[in-house]
Amino acid sequence: MTKLLHIDSSVLGPHSVSRQLSAAIVDRLRQATPDAEVTYRDLSATPLSHLSGAHLAAAQGAATADAGVAQDMTTGLAVLNEFLAADTVVLGAPMYNFTIPSQLKAWIDRIVVAGKTFKYDAQGPHGLAGDKRVIVAISRGGFYGPGMPTATLEHLETYLRGIFGFIGVTKLEFIFADGIQLGPEHREKALSSALQAVTALQAA
Ligand SMILES: Cc1cc2nc3c(=O)[nH]c(=O)nc-3n(C[C@H](O)[C@H](O)[C@H](O)COP(=O)(O)O)c2cc1C
Repeated sequence: MTKLLHIDSSVLGPHSVSRQLSAAIVDRLRQATPDAEVTYRDLSATPLSHLSGAHLAAAQGAATADAGVAQDMTTGLAVLNEFLAADTVVLGAPMYNFTIPSQLKAWIDRIVVAGKTFKYDAQGPHGLAGDKRVIVAISRGGFYGPGMPTATLEHLETYLRGIFGFIGVTKLEFIFADGIQLGPEHREKALSSALQAVTALQAA
């Protein structure tokens, strides 16, 4: 059975654009595979903790008597296994302070794991997560296209392309809603053209 992992990271709840888009993407994919098993993770409602030295030591086999660290190890492993098991990942990714929300970074820290999603050998790094389709719904307050004065501040899309590329994801697709903070008209236009782009996504 197809496994779909749906992740949201916006802190804006029902007002969130990226949440609306990620939900529309999941609906679109379910048209082709209605029996897909969907796992949903809301990184704002249920944030993951940041990596700590204790976590890293325990991950490398150090004994821990700390129940919090042990619980954190279990959660981190569950997050990693969800990602590894997914055929398709749908990710809601808003721009906060020119990059991903810290909640999303905490998730990335749990899925970018040596020996699981990448490895190093004499030739350098190799991604191990190449068989997945990842679809990212990006929402940004402004515009960051090539030639824009703000282009050098774009560390959301560029970061996500970099990190998913690093772990070997080649089937990486984006849906964009830009200019969300430039006024209600811009917001409406950006949302409706992004939702239109969702209908053009390959469903399976
Ligand atoms: C805390 C915060 C920081 C933001 N920082 C930026 C930013 O650096 N650049 C930008 O273009 N928009 C910024 N915005 C606007 C959001 O990117 C925009 O509202 C987008 O729709 C957020 O996605 P969401 O609606 O799914 O939360 C920020 C919004 C918030 C709440």
